[in-house]
Amino acid sequence: MKSKFQSRAVKAAFGAVFALAFTFPVTAMDTAALKTEAVGVVKAFGGPLKMALQDGMKNGGPIHAIGVCNEKAPAIAAAAMASTGWDVARTSLKLRNPSNEADAWERDVLNQFEARKAAGESPDDIAFGEVVEVNGVKQYRFMKAIGTAEVCLSCHGDKLNPDVAAKLDGLYPTDQARGFSIGDIRGAFTLKKDL
Ligand code: HEC
Repeated sequence: MKSKFQSRAVKAAFGAVFALAFTFPVTAMDTAALKTEAVGVVKAFGGPLKMALQDGMKNGGPIHAIGVCNEKAPAIAAAAMASTGWDVARTSLKLRNPSNEADAWERDVLNQFEARKAAGESPDDIAFGEVVEVNGVKQYRFMKAIGTAEVCLSCHGDKLNPDVAAKLDGLYPTDQARGFSIGDIRGAFTLKKDL
């Protein structure tokens, strides 16, 4: 009786080891593939966004470019979503547009990003992705930090031109996205996809 139980237990243990051996690497591989895909989606969203910002700044300065960010950022996000099938957005711990507000998972990740930056990592290298389950549906979520560069300071720095400040006040009465310095984490791209 005892030996039968033992052999069952051994079989079960083997089964578990085999299941682990076969499922774990697949899951790890899928996650790696999803991460690679997510990095590509960040480029598909961030590239055109940066171009629109640079064009706007060149053809009319920051006042004009505020309108470009205001109107084009959501449109570029929508186009990236349509072409990739991923949900893409930007968020931050200090928001300009309240509709970019972080959910609990995103806030946690943004806090981890701040800790990683404080420990010496460059914002360019800071990213995180994982599989989560929401109401029984598995989802891959990914965030990539966005650093603050010099070009960002005319609208997110601490010394704003008064006309720029006035235009921002009008569009974003609850604006918190000022006072950033070069190298700070301005926010993050945030992506998700149902699996
Ligand atoms: C010409 C002004 C301007 C410049 C320059 C600018 N931004 Fe913004 N930024 C805005 C505006 C306006 C919004 C709000 C967009 C919206 O309504 O979705 C915004 C929103 C954001 C957001 C979304 C989160 C939030 O606070 O709502 C991030 C992240 C961001 N900017 C990062 C940057 C970075 C990084 C740079 C430099 C590469 C930069 N911005 C340069 C005007 C600017």
